[in-house]
Amino acid sequence: NNNFTTKDFLKAKMDGRKITMLTAYDYPTSKIIDQAGIDCILVGDSLGMVVLGYEDTTKVTVEDMIHHTKAVVRGAKRAMVVSDLPFTSYHTGVYDSVRNAARLVSEGGCKAVKLEGGEDFKDEIKAIIRAGIPVMGHLGYTPQSINIFGGHKVQGKTIEGARKLLKDALALQEAGVFSIVLECIPMRLAALISEKLSIPTIGIGSGVECDGQVIVIHDAVGLYRDFSPKHVKKYACVGDIIEQSAKDYINDVTNKYFPQACNSYKIEDEVIDILRG
Ligand code: KIV
Ligand code: NA
Repeated sequence: NNNFTTKDFLKAKMDGRKITMLTAYDYPTSKIIDQAGIDCILVGDSLGMVVLGYEDTTKVTVEDMIHHTKAVVRGAKRAMVVSDLPFTSYHTGVYDSVRNAARLVSEGGCKAVKLEGGEDFKDEIKAIIRAGIPVMGHLGYTPQSINIFGGHKVQGKTIEGARKLLKDALALQEAGVFSIVLECIPMRLAALISEKLSIPTIGIGSGVECDGQVIVIHDAVGLYRDFSPKHVKKYACVGDIIEQSAKDYINDVTNKYFPQACNSYKIEDEVIDILRG
């Protein structure tokens, strides 16, 4: 069995091998990146922005997450699929947290869930793990709290901020998470946290010393063109390819270059002759 599991997260850290993670929200993308050899696929609530066109992640529902998780799970053979618990699905108590996490697993089919926040969420994390669901943490810039952050992206620059992040990371490890996403924290702080933890950190905008990296696929391939943050590396311009394809198609149809005979179906001449009478 070649499937990537939470055990492989820990093993990768011990072996000093970087963990690779990308987001996906649909079957074809999931299948492509799984075949490319990605370790872990995140059905992120970034879904709200890059797929559903909302301004931020706060409108994403558990139903949205289940719907897209199902599609991603169908495409992933080797990669481990992790789904985000969306906005307020784990903020109204331990019962709701376990219930919503369980829905992502039993209805969606993912193998683990991710939630944003530090030691405030210890009880929820422990209860979800007790239900048999591995939890991934998420610290630093946590997009569901966009209305609290008010524009400030990079977290943990001050001594209080940095100390709080380290404390939260240790609290999450203590609560039993198998890994922690560190989003937009200074690289030297991410390195320090990664060194202090025995579980792997997965960085996004947090430098090369994290134990793995994650990036939103639409940013990585240039499919989401509204904006591109500094921490993104663009590997392709798929949006430009789609736009040019659409223009070529429009031109072909308008000028009757498409479809050609090879794109069309044949019938015996006599059938048409008979119909003509
Ligand atoms: O929703 C998401 O895509 C994420 C990653 C950027 C970590 O949470
Ligand atoms: Na997310």
